[in-house]
Amino acid sequence: MTGQPIAGPGPLGFESLAIHAGQPPDPSTGAVVTPVFQTSTYAQSGVGQHLGYDYSRTANPTRAALEQCLAVLEGASHGLAFASGMAAIDALLRQLRPGDQVLIPDDAYGGTYRLVSGVHAPAGLAYQPVAVHDLGALDAAFTPQTRMVWVETPSNPLLRVIDIAAVAELTHRRGAILVVDNTFATPYLQQPLLLGADAVVHSTTKYLGGHSDVVGGFIATSDENLAHGLAFVQNSAGAVPGPFDCFLVLRGIKTLAVRMDRHCANAQVVVEFLSSHPAVERVHYPGLSTHVGHEIAARQMRAFGGMVSFTLRGGEGAALAVAGAARLFTLAESLGAVESLIEHPHRMTHASVAASPLAVEPALVRLSVGIETVADLIGDLAQALDRLG
Ligand SMILES: Cc1ncc(COP(=O)(O)O)c(C=O)c1O
Repeated sequence: MTGQPIAGPGPLGFESLAIHAGQPPDPSTGAVVTPVFQTSTYAQSGVGQHLGYDYSRTANPTRAALEQCLAVLEGASHGLAFASGMAAIDALLRQLRPGDQVLIPDDAYGGTYRLVSGVHAPAGLAYQPVAVHDLGALDAAFTPQTRMVWVETPSNPLLRVIDIAAVAELTHRRGAILVVDNTFATPYLQQPLLLGADAVVHSTTKYLGGHSDVVGGFIATSDENLAHGLAFVQNSAGAVPGPFDCFLVLRGIKTLAVRMDRHCANAQVVVEFLSSHPAVERVHYPGLSTHVGHEIAARQMRAFGGMVSFTLRGGEGAALAVAGAARLFTLAESLGAVESLIEHPHRMTHASVAASPLAVEPALVRLSVGIETVADLIGDLAQALDRLG
């Protein structure tokens, strides 16, 4: 666990920090890029005398660079990298005790719901799915046992937007902590800690890695007690990423800003196309002025992101047909990489919640809009939708 702000002549911009924070030239070789420290252990000059590293489950220099860089980007004093987004989420849930309650979104990522309901609930954790975008409903859901509120914004797959500052205020007033899953937005578009959240969690598999070639997770926090509890779980349970995976995420982060700008611009064009297509019933995108969370998104986000979902008038059959007919949009799970992806949440990413209160409607299709030539993306969606007749 690391997270000291980088030293510099003055405050640096996001893009500069993304490239340099935690990554000075390697002092032993001058290597400009942080090396992949592919080692499990470190020589000690005497018992307990070492250069800050004794075993790579506890700490590794490549991981430390990633932890420092991403902590700085989230405005946090502490960052912790994990082997996957789910491992990071698990470490946060392990901060709770049997009998404590966590409030989770009623449209949470299916894997989060599965972990809460299938792993932590049998061990005594109480949980309640809530429409967390509705402050009244959220307020009513608190019990004396509520210790944590979990939100995703924009959410997966319905792109609901949560007012982070308002939810943080309510959560703190009720004596709990707020965790924000910032996977869809990334710190380039939204910094939840600066809006009052206590911890931010990421699947770095997505936009931060950005190239569909690594699985990873991350937590940023400025809460000392929480950071120590998380570091204890990180080291004790050992769900840490390897040095090469950390290198890949670090490399991805260097281009995060330019990639996100293009993801957002392409998504806007895709949304305009979908909104005018007769086969499309409804488009979910926070950048639409008709989106119920548009004003909040405009306030708390730099831009509206690269994720879009929509329902087809023809129901599940039409959704499956479109997902299967797309060519440039690859039919695949995951999101947030340079290539465009299409998927059917009901049967794919959210299949694990199909029989739960979080079930996703079968007519829904989700797009992760990549950074290809936007005319090619529109052409591909047009040929897939026009087949519906
Ligand atoms: C919003 C969100 N959070 C967390 C995760 C889990 O991350 P990972 O697949 O890296 O374990 C995902 C995965 O799709 C996700 O979409």
